[in-house]
Amino acid sequence: MDTITGLLGCRYPVIQGAMGVISNPELVAAVSEAGGFGLLATGFITDPDELIRQIETVKALTDKPFGANLMPMNPLSRTYAGIVVDRGLRGVTLSAGSPRQLVPFLKTHGVTTFQVVASVSNALKAEALGIDAVIAEGMESGGIQSRNGVGTMVLVPAVVDAVKVPVVAAGGIADSRGFRAAMALGAKGVQIGTRFIASEECIAHEKFKRAILRADETSTSVVIDGRFGYRVITSQETASKTQETSNELPTSMARQMRDSWVGGMEAGVPFSAGQVAGLIRQIKPVSQIINELVG
Ligand SMILES: Cc1cc2nc3c(=O)[nH]c(=O)nc-3n(C[C@H](O)[C@H](O)[C@H](O)COP(=O)(O)O)c2cc1C
Repeated sequence: MDTITGLLGCRYPVIQGAMGVISNPELVAAVSEAGGFGLLATGFITDPDELIRQIETVKALTDKPFGANLMPMNPLSRTYAGIVVDRGLRGVTLSAGSPRQLVPFLKTHGVTTFQVVASVSNALKAEALGIDAVIAEGMESGGIQSRNGVGTMVLVPAVVDAVKVPVVAAGGIADSRGFRAAMALGAKGVQIGTRFIASEECIAHEKFKRAILRADETSTSVVIDGRFGYRVITSQETASKTQETSNELPTSMARQMRDSWVGGMEAGVPFSAGQVAGLIRQIKPVSQIINELVG
């Protein structure tokens, strides 16, 4: 059962990437209902009850399988892994931090594990830990970036050649051309972030969605913080705001992300999106996005 659909119990090999504070339960449920695999994002949740509430909300909206992203660098990630197991979630993606502690725990309890990697060496380490699949995420993607990024076009076949577990491609995929290209590179599935922000079901503020629609392929850049970088929609304003906030990470990050990404407040964390924003011209329902992608 080494297909992504077999591992995750979904119809299409399309994973909705976790997206900080905008992987809202309605988006997750819509993706799973449409045949993909929706993912809640726990990296910036600071209260376990909030995660339980989000899981229950998804379950009230769909009976299809869905999962969660855990970030080991979040001190509560072990608690969240316990909640995921107790609530019977089908799959977990791991990113930002070492998966060493969480993978054995999750696997023992029957949860399928995916590790997000940005290099062949990290893919090999994850495979040695017994991970079920890796997500090779190219530097064109939205969200947190490694400092020495490799593009999806090179990273995916390099990882495919190196590991035996299935590989999912992430970064720069928004339509059927990207989906088919990922398969041609040897991926068994795709993980998509930015395209789902510009969906009807995503909780992201209209300003965020419109910034994606306005963007062209040169509109994003990686802002480097002391410990990590992340890809944002570039403007003079966001560049200066980032300087002001970078020292406060990560404690006040969640609140600032919510104020900006959901609240549309211009002050604070800039909108994060991938280069693929340059290909996105319309806000669509999730079901249409997925049908066009795999059609
Ligand atoms: C706004 C935003 C927030 C993100 N937050 C997370 C996160 O919390 N955890 C994670 O593993 N990946 C995160 N990502 C990465 C996505 O899950 C996904 O891998 C990526 O967006 C794929 O590239 P694409 O944007 O080109 O589709 C984020 C991406 C975006 C755009």
